[in-house]
Amino acid sequence: MRVNLCRSLRAAGVMTSKIAEGYQQNSKWQRNGGKRFVENEVVPYLGNDILDLGCGTGELSAYLAELVGPKGRVLAVDPDKERIRVAQESHKEVENLTFAPGSTLSFPGLGLETYNVIFSNFVLHWIKNIEDKKNAFQNMFRSLKPTGKIFMRYSGRLPTHFDGVFRELNPENMDRLLNLFEHETRPVIEKLCEANGFRVLKSFDEKHDDLAFENGEALCLFFWATTNGVFDPQLVTEERLEKFCARFSSGETGGIKLRSEETDLCSVLVAEKPAEYK
Ligand SMILES: C[S@@+](CC[C@H](N)C(=O)[O-])C[C@H]1O[C@@H](n2cnc3c(N)ncnc32)[C@H](O)[C@@H]1O
Repeated sequence: MRVNLCRSLRAAGVMTSKIAEGYQQNSKWQRNGGKRFVENEVVPYLGNDILDLGCGTGELSAYLAELVGPKGRVLAVDPDKERIRVAQESHKEVENLTFAPGSTLSFPGLGLETYNVIFSNFVLHWIKNIEDKKNAFQNMFRSLKPTGKIFMRYSGRLPTHFDGVFRELNPENMDRLLNLFEHETRPVIEKLCEANGFRVLKSFDEKHDDLAFENGEALCLFFWATTNGVFDPQLVTEERLEKFCARFSSGETGGIKLRSEETDLCSVLVAEKPAEYK
């Protein structure tokens, strides 16, 4: 049967909604891990001044703003203007939180040593070349107060479940999908970090979370939103999905469960700007 899943997605009205809204509604995978990261590693102090680099639609920024309290401040930037628009609209009641268009290469406070903390969840692998990654570390260093810290979470390689979805469900778009990211290994990132003056406090890997979806439509929505519309649900036929699920889904929850493998690692980096530096 070659039923196009997109027909029912359209019927549900989701294909007409904007991609940024789609990201907000479907990015639990990124957000849940980010929230754990905030709770286990970042643990900000009341009154901290935080920059969230690559904030998406701002749910983690709002969480950070709550944790730093009314005397603290969070400034959150993203180069995607639509995501910033959704973030501003959704979190406008949070008084100590400001959103602005920006990126690792250009953001308010760049070079002014104003931040206690720079937080960045799942952004580094979206930065397309090593020079820009180098500049990101340089800019973060120049913008932190002495003893300020960076907290970053990133992917060192494409997780197996992402690769399987791209390959089996969107083979026509495989090159464009792979070109969205540029992964670097943990030793390379540590070197970049230290070369720009930081002292690495923690650098470790943890297994990526599994991905679980109620059904094929939910899976399509997630990958469509996460890839900024490059993953095309219109290419996902029932036939493709059935073959994919038979091969990749453990299916024990009744939906689609994509287990990450032992080698699917997400890296965590915590580094400090020394109190005294040259
Ligand atoms: C996977 S999303 C993560 C968003 C958010 N941090 C979260 O955890 O939900 C990656 C974000 O990085 C942004 N991004 C891409 N390149 C960037 C850059 N050079 N500087 C800052 N953000 C960037 C994208 O626009 C996207 O919103």
